[in-house]
Amino acid sequence: MASDQYHEPIELLDEKTQDFTRIIKSIMEEFEAVDWYNQRMSATKDPQVKALLKHNRDEELEHAAMGIEWLRRQLPEFDKELRENLFTEGPIGHHDDDGSDEQTQRHKGLNIGKPKR
Ligand SMILES: [Fe+2]
Repeated sequence: MASDQYHEPIELLDEKTQDFTRIIKSIMEEFEAVDWYNQRMSATKDPQVKALLKHNRDEELEHAAMGIEWLRRQLPEFDKELRENLFTEGPIGHHDDDGSDEQTQRHKGLNIGKPKR
């Protein structure tokens, strides 16, 4: 049933929130498909089958990217995180050790401590 995907009563959710759920669920399904195609590519010994599966996997990656782009356009906070964390060099999730970086300060404000490194 479609309403099984909500954690709150659907009558309390506005259209925009329901669209968020639709897109987030779609992105999850696209990545699940990517994982399945990837595993099948790894398992097959037939180069033609591998090429076909790769084509299909890459299309699912495009679908996932389109969903992420929709979310980015709706959520300024997500846009900010993507801009700060994607297409960077060096260790992923690295922050300054002196605790002065923005993310550490943000977490301190919530009293949840320093993010794991
Ligand atoms: Fe897809």
